[in-house]
Amino acid sequence: MLNFDDDYAAPAAHPMPPAAPPRPQLQPAWGAPPFPKGGPGGISTPAAAKPADDIAHRRVRVEDKLIINARADVNQLVPFKYKWAWEKYIAACANHWMPQEVNMNRDIATWKDPNGLSDDERHIIKRNLGFFVTADSLAANNIVLGTYRQITAPECRQYLLRQAFEEAIHTHAYQYIVESLGLDEGEIFNAYHEVSSIKAKDEFLLPYIDVLSNPTFKTGTPETDQAFLKSLIAFACIMEGLFFYVGFVQILALGRQNKMTGAAEQYQYILRDESMHCNFGIDMINQIKLENPGLWTNALKAELKGMFEKAVELEYKYAEDTMPRGVLGLNAPMFKEYLRFIANRRATQIGLDELYPGASNPFPWMAEMIDLKKEKNFFETRVTEYQTGGALAWD
Ligand SMILES: [Fe+2]
Ligand SMILES: [Fe+2]
Repeated sequence: MLNFDDDYAAPAAHPMPPAAPPRPQLQPAWGAPPFPKGGPGGISTPAAAKPADDIAHRRVRVEDKLIINARADVNQLVPFKYKWAWEKYIAACANHWMPQEVNMNRDIATWKDPNGLSDDERHIIKRNLGFFVTADSLAANNIVLGTYRQITAPECRQYLLRQAFEEAIHTHAYQYIVESLGLDEGEIFNAYHEVSSIKAKDEFLLPYIDVLSNPTFKTGTPETDQAFLKSLIAFACIMEGLFFYVGFVQILALGRQNKMTGAAEQYQYILRDESMHCNFGIDMINQIKLENPGLWTNALKAELKGMFEKAVELEYKYAEDTMPRGVLGLNAPMFKEYLRFIANRRATQIGLDELYPGASNPFPWMAEMIDLKKEKNFFETRVTEYQTGGALAWD
């Protein structure tokens, strides 16, 4: 069975400390040694009590800020250094949406109609929800219990807080679809234990999530900094950047054929959010590389190449499992090319060589939605539609 324990109170290997007497200094809740001054948590004692040259207790200067391992006070959002993170936070807030604002009546009628969908289409929908209903909980836990603690740029923390809420909205959206269609909740929510193609993807990710959610994990050495970088890449480039895309294509393809348009609208909002999560993660990865060039070793690059190749293999198996036959003008082999195309894109975005030279995109209509260059226009149009409650057009 998969073990998704990520609660600080749960793991036997990291027991909570017994009720402690009052401490002279604030400590992390999990009983690890006190934070370095201004480090994760960043709660400072009054500046007057500290020497004037103590970086953690003086007014923050741009040059003191670092994306990881900073000693500057993380509670001071400004002066801005990582403006790209702040701008993404503002853009994400402007795109706020809630699942219950999408009308699901037509989907419910289609699902109940024995002739509304083929068996293959129903299979795709159930598999899709089976993966996503728990994937976004994993994503949220990874941010809140793992990534957030290690990032010392307050602009990035601000975005991560927004991202964590968006993951909660996504879980809500999938639950809302399951509830609207009257699907078997036990079957869908346990798919990550019970469906091998879904379980294999989650088992691939778990070691990278577990390393960060270990309460004793802390960046600050080349080894732990590299482990953190690897986990960020597994999360942003592979989970959010690759493992979501077979599912996104399938449901958006349904919507383009005017089927399950409520679910497809939910997925389109989710895709917009996830596209930004992925790009934000890549920005953080590249910033860490920039500030810590020694981490980007040939050994790490070789390991990452292997990770991408394994991920493409797993996501292709998932495509085959969800589409035993061609459906909606899609078939599993088309996804082999698509996954290679996306893997190339993710690899080059973080400075690796193309993994599958020459791979092309068999779904050009998806490129419009995921292409970062078009992100701004995409937001401008969709936000207006969201704010006026209009439906998305599928043409
Ligand atoms: Fe999500
Ligand atoms: Fe995400």
